[in-house]
Amino acid sequence: MRNKHLNIVRPKHILSASQFDRPFLDYFNQLTTTIRRFDKTKEGLMYLQSLLCHKRAMLYFTQPSTRTFLSFQSASQIVGMKTSEIRDTSTSSERKGETIDDSLRTFSSYVDIIIMRSPVRGLCDHIASILDQTDRPVPIINAGSGPDEHPTQALLDIYTLDRSFKNIGGIEGKTICMVGDLKRGRTVRSLSRLLTLYPGTKILFASPEAFKIEDDLRTMLRTKKVEFIETTEFKDAIASADAIYMTRIQDEYDVSGESKAVDYSNFCLKESHLKILKDHCVIMHPLPRRDELDSKIDNDPRAKYWRQERNGMWTRVALMTVLMDVDRNIMLPEL
Ligand code: CP
Repeated sequence: MRNKHLNIVRPKHILSASQFDRPFLDYFNQLTTTIRRFDKTKEGLMYLQSLLCHKRAMLYFTQPSTRTFLSFQSASQIVGMKTSEIRDTSTSSERKGETIDDSLRTFSSYVDIIIMRSPVRGLCDHIASILDQTDRPVPIINAGSGPDEHPTQALLDIYTLDRSFKNIGGIEGKTICMVGDLKRGRTVRSLSRLLTLYPGTKILFASPEAFKIEDDLRTMLRTKKVEFIETTEFKDAIASADAIYMTRIQDEYDVSGESKAVDYSNFCLKESHLKILKDHCVIMHPLPRRDELDSKIDNDPRAKYWRQERNGMWTRVALMTVLMDVDRNIMLPEL
């Protein structure tokens, strides 16, 4: 049997979760699991480091980040890539009036891949199209674009779900409950897009009225014929879920403090809720959290968010190898 990875659609940039198909996700999850095994020995890690030791990565993060930044930086180190970073435009020539377009084109003169987080919706797509017209069309990775998309978070979320459900039939047919600020949560939008690739999956969106999903997501799910329910009944929703995906209030997108007027207290997962959850329920959160996810839950075996966070590093290693076309050098079992 031919190894299926020869047939996957190979992405040039990572801009949106909507660019992936199911064969890619199946291949990608398998690749990530294979790469994680290299972590078990010094020889394995040295091999990974040799894969891209001749390449350089740029981390351009103009919105706050802890785990996305650090996991991409660590992933780069794991495959041997050197990194440069800008996290504050007050230290770059943007401060002197240079446009973002010119800044990004400048990065492409020095590095082989650009990973960027920005508050501006669509900026990654714009930069990718500009660079594609130059003689340095380096790959762009969207590491979070305003309230719009966070495609690499969706990849690590799907990997976590896939691993968690591997002994109970996979993601297909499962009920995933997403909770919180669904209006402005980019992780919810990107993960919902990937869940459409798993037949029979049902999504419960539990949120205060003010934080319901936006029309674009509603329309996309209807077009793809994905069953979904929008509800304000938090307890009923979590009790019927196979996975709960908690999110925090995204008040960084408030125009004038409007989040303060929203009662979020009924959308917080507490220790007292654990008894109503299914035994196999997977509790996830893209993090960082506030009080919507009680730290007393951390030691419950169903809490997977710290593992989810670590999966982010390994999925990003896998992504680097795919984008730089060295994933073929990683021994893969037949899929
Ligand atoms: N999940 C996530 O994007 O976290 P950071 O904002 O810390 O990168």
